Amino acid sequence: MSPKASPISNAQRALDTEPQSVDAPLSAAAAFLVLVVKDDDASIATARSVVASTGDLIKDLRIRANSGLFTCNVGISHRVWGPLTGKPAPSELVPFREVRGATHTAVATAGDLLYHIRADTMDLIIEFEKLLLEAFGDAVTAVDDVAGFRYFDGRDLLEFVDGTANPDGLDLPAATIVGEEDPDYAGGSYVVIQKYLHDLSAWRAQKVETQEAIIGRTKFDNVELPDATQGQKSHKTLCTIQDADGEHDILRDNMPFAVPGRGEYGTYFIGYSRHLWVIEKMMERMFIGDPPPLHDRILDFSKAVAGVTFFAPARKFLSDLAD
Ligand code: HEM
Repeated sequence: MSPKASPISNAQRALDTEPQSVDAPLSAAAAFLVLVVKDDDASIATARSVVASTGDLIKDLRIRANSGLFTCNVGISHRVWGPLTGKPAPSELVPFREVRGATHTAVATAGDLLYHIRADTMDLIIEFEKLLLEAFGDAVTAVDDVAGFRYFDGRDLLEFVDGTANPDGLDLPAATIVGEEDPDYAGGSYVVIQKYLHDLSAWRAQKVETQEAIIGRTKFDNVELPDATQGQKSHKTLCTIQDADGEHDILRDNMPFAVPGRGEYGTYFIGYSRHLWVIEKMMERMFIGDPPPLHDRILDFSKAVAGVTFFAPARKFLSDLAD
């Protein structure tokens, strides 16, 4: 008979595997800050120490948020995992794998650290980024910094409600948080980002019925349309991954972003998953098509201009990097 784990060891395990704020509610504002770490030893050491102290910086800001929402999740890429943590990478962590379909490509771009920051107001986000980047100094280069905003009732700039099918309740950690299948990284989550730019005039030239068939939901009231069993599938159907184990969900916290003066309107896709392969499979179905070459028609109006994969480890893993 195997000995039972004591309450103390259970509590310690819970502490060691406490996830970052993956399950934070959809916020009014967000930022997606992607950094590349310089390769010299001093820069790596600075980056390690700033990443380790991010939890303290979050607390410094949260107390100033007057009980409003403020969360930040840190992701680390495959490229810097070894140098930064001194540990072997999580079992599924690989660099973003480009997906080249007959017409569209999910491009892979640079990025070593992801800061996914969510708050009720933009002032907190900017303050946090300012303090964070001061701490990093010239150890990093920011390759992207996108401010996302909530658009009416949670719509993307294609004007559809985005985020509906996200898992909730106990399904949320089951879909997003690594468990004992990778014990050293239990409590962590794979995170993939993609930046999309929309061709809004081409999209708006489509009939609402065409747009609804592309997404797989009605536009005004967000009701799910039946899945096509053959031929062209909707975005919703292509992103539904089912096998003998059932349906595999991910958590999305996409945000619209825009610079109207430059005609720039986009969606910043962010997906959290317990298994990287689930997000990769969705992208394969979107870009290559199911069946090929019937790609996701959302891509005829939305161009992927960035794509990076990270792993957001448990909180304690991050703070322990200081040791
Ligand atoms: C231009 C970028 C994108 C836009 C505007 C977009 C928009 C949407 C919208 C409006 C829905 C339907 C409502 C909902 O359930 O949220 C949806 C569903 C979904 N999308 Fe996307 N999406 C984008 C990219 C992606 C990517 C890159 C992935 C994954 C790799 C993805 C995964 C999903 C999933 C899993 C669902 C739910 C499917 C289900 O009903 O089970 N999306 N998306």
